[in-house]
Amino acid sequence: MRTEQPNTIYLKDYQVPDYLIDETTLTFELYEDHSLVHAQLVMRRNPQAGAGLPPLVLHGQELELLSLSLNDRELGAGDYQLTPASLTLQPDSASFTLDSTVRIHPESNTALEGLYKSGTMFCTQCEAEGFRKITYYLDRPDVMSSFTTTVSADKQRYPVLLSNGNPVAAGDGEDGRHWATWQDPFKKPAYLFALVAGDLWCIEDSFTTMSGRDVALRIYVEPENIDKCQHAMDSLKKSMRWDEEVYGREYDLDIFMIVAVNDFNMGAMENKGLNIFNSSAVLARAETATDAAHQRIEAIVAHEYFHNWSGNRVTCRDWFQLSLKEGFTVFRDAEFSADMNSRTVKRIEDVAYLRTHQFAEDAGPMAHPVRPDAYMEISNFYTLTVYEKGAEVLRMIHTLLGADAFRKGSDLYFQRHDGQAVTCDDFIKAMEDASGIDLTQFKRWYSQAGTPRLQVSEAYDAAAQTYTLTFAQSCPATPGQAEKQPFVIPVALGLLDAQGNDLPLQLAGEAAAQGTSRVLSVTEAQHSFTFVNVAEKPLPSLLRGFSAPVKMSFPYSRDQLMFLMQHDSDGFNRWEAGQQLAVQVLQELVGQRQRGEAMVLDQRLIAALRTLLENQQLDQAMVAEMLSLPSEAYLAEISDEADVDAIHAAREFVRQQIAEALYEPLWARYQASREQSRQTPYVAEAGQIARRSLQNIALSYLMETGREEVLAACLEQYEHSDNMTERLHALAVLVNSPFEAEKAGALAKFAEHFKDNPLVMDQWFSVQAGSPLPGGLSRVQQLMAHPAFNLKNPNKVRSLIGAFANQNHVNFHALDGSGYRFLADQVIALNGFNPQIAARQLAPLTRWRKFAPARQALMRGELERILASGELSPDVYEVVSKSLA
Ligand code: TRP
Ligand code: ZN
Repeated sequence: MRTEQPNTIYLKDYQVPDYLIDETTLTFELYEDHSLVHAQLVMRRNPQAGAGLPPLVLHGQELELLSLSLNDRELGAGDYQLTPASLTLQPDSASFTLDSTVRIHPESNTALEGLYKSGTMFCTQCEAEGFRKITYYLDRPDVMSSFTTTVSADKQRYPVLLSNGNPVAAGDGEDGRHWATWQDPFKKPAYLFALVAGDLWCIEDSFTTMSGRDVALRIYVEPENIDKCQHAMDSLKKSMRWDEEVYGREYDLDIFMIVAVNDFNMGAMENKGLNIFNSSAVLARAETATDAAHQRIEAIVAHEYFHNWSGNRVTCRDWFQLSLKEGFTVFRDAEFSADMNSRTVKRIEDVAYLRTHQFAEDAGPMAHPVRPDAYMEISNFYTLTVYEKGAEVLRMIHTLLGADAFRKGSDLYFQRHDGQAVTCDDFIKAMEDASGIDLTQFKRWYSQAGTPRLQVSEAYDAAAQTYTLTFAQSCPATPGQAEKQPFVIPVALGLLDAQGNDLPLQLAGEAAAQGTSRVLSVTEAQHSFTFVNVAEKPLPSLLRGFSAPVKMSFPYSRDQLMFLMQHDSDGFNRWEAGQQLAVQVLQELVGQRQRGEAMVLDQRLIAALRTLLENQQLDQAMVAEMLSLPSEAYLAEISDEADVDAIHAAREFVRQQIAEALYEPLWARYQASREQSRQTPYVAEAGQIARRSLQNIALSYLMETGREEVLAACLEQYEHSDNMTERLHALAVLVNSPFEAEKAGALAKFAEHFKDNPLVMDQWFSVQAGSPLPGGLSRVQQLMAHPAFNLKNPNKVRSLIGAFANQNHVNFHALDGSGYRFLADQVIALNGFNPQIAARQLAPLTRWRKFAPARQALMRGELERILASGELSPDVYEVVSKSLA
């Protein structure tokens, strides 16, 4: 905590470490009221750092130093200097051994960084800079060491003692204690260190790698959750196989462990051989977790597993390079999910998320490049830009190089840099060397923030039979970056004839047509491409598969969008055409509403959706996606000035019109699917998931009509489903309905039934926090007093406070400022014990520039109140001060 301004760290100031650590030997003695950490560091002068013996400056925070010796010589207080964040001493030789003992307090560590307790269990979270809260160390990712770790604890309370690598020894000690020693032969930075001690059970399985080695797989959970691990285990085995097949990457230790903990700041962490997961990213079974939760678990298990190569074997030189491992690994997990499930649906979900949330971040005060060049607190840079936009950058490289050259590039990268801490430039160099493609201009995606705009115009010359597309790109200013240079924008496209068939694509200067869908590289601010032998004026299908993270515009008419919805050979663009149609219609209604006119719906939207619903051949997941209107958050993001109430009113109006006009086909689809649910036991498998998603969205629309038969169906689904996907959705629909008695009954019954399952209670909180009905804030405030709520648990904060501020626009943005005041109060409280979570909850307030002056003033007022509230963590200080700048 501090009141003075935290320091800004700059990429341009990077220097190699003065000293290296070759071997790290740790001994932990865990007790109820403190823990002791002994560290022996075998160190030497870094040969790359120049001559002489500069002072050694170790990181360390909240440590009580009990003893320190250099080469077995005990040091006295005059031999070193301590500050709140460091320990400095003067080595007298180029190689030396440093021994230290510190006392720490995991039992009162509420920040969930370093060594802490989650329930009765000890666990760690060291990324990015948490290891310095465990012992004095060079806590930076370019210092890589082997680790040997001994953990000792009370045997009864903590029968399971785990750390990274392979188990090498164990035994009993005095006073009912026991110990275990683990050895990790792979050199790693301290952020990948992990330790767990607790009363845990595990499910065990094994995996035979491509070279025939057997790997033991274990998932550790608290005993009551042992029946909820199988899905994660199945996901792990699929991930291991996929990484061998698609990237040629094999697992390298004899054992791979996952531990589920209830108190965790993020989703999961890729510690070498010992992944620690938020329990929400592990535990699932039909009765307690939705389809979406099952799919999220599959993706996160894969993500952390894939880090074993993209992050651990090859790691980051410094934290500015974070996207080197995160962007790459998100791209890898997205492709894995696409291969395991529906590729098009996965892409639609990811793009909707990116455009709603990352585009908003990129247009706000915290906007930063995929490779940031400055930060105050690195925890604030685990962002949508580093993760999701970073993954889009990798996807563009994949698109530009093609799958084969990309694989050659990744092989070269892993082979060239195995065991090293490297930069995004090293990654690009490997891709260039393997493919022969120059990525110099492309690299601007790493250094320039902001979402590029791409305006497309067309010209058809009937006499010459040529068709010219002109792309004009620009990028708005972002903090610290007024001017931008043109990006390399890969535009995948096709041209449709009047029947909806793809035309062969021949560019001027080419001898023959080359396929019917191809990728153009737009590299200039203004860049034209002329197609020849085009016999009729075509309709372009642009940015197929969302081939670049840009805001593309083309002056489509609504009839053209309806045509693309039906005929585009690219599934993503069929959905995209539907979204653009809905956006046009909704924006028109928002305008009518703002002018005080009656809202009149363009019936073409209804006609388009009717066609979809009546076509039994279509993939049900696609139909569900196409029936989903753009979210209020997305509609706000694409507005110059977001009118929260008009957006909500327009969207609700369209929902009701759809429900009334399409009642028959929706009801038919709903009943057929619900009947199948009653006949078939739940499996989290793509076909069923698709069917349930259509069933559930149909139920949401049907309930808008308020008809008795729908209420009865909703109650039946709520009462009699064998799975959480149907039960929770029925509950959500009831919560958003006017049927007060049924709603109250269902909520009470649900809470009674699931009161001992915190992850299910999270969903119960979320469903209520997200309800746009009037009185939202007071409901949330009441729920904060519910016995299952706990502000110290990040999942609870996210499911109640986060869901309210992010998913309940009308209530959060109440014109009396009550929603903003509430959020600021929570941030101030959280700042006192969990700065990372506090800073993350601030995101909705940072978007104040999107709204009309009255709301802007209220939002700014709350940010100023936080700033003046006293001792701010660097995390909260950075976000608040940049938001107000
Ligand atoms: N490396 C983790 C991942 O993306 C992210 C992470 C987990 C994290 N816990 C954290 C980042 C705590 C910052 C702080 O998989
Ligand atoms: Zn990651």
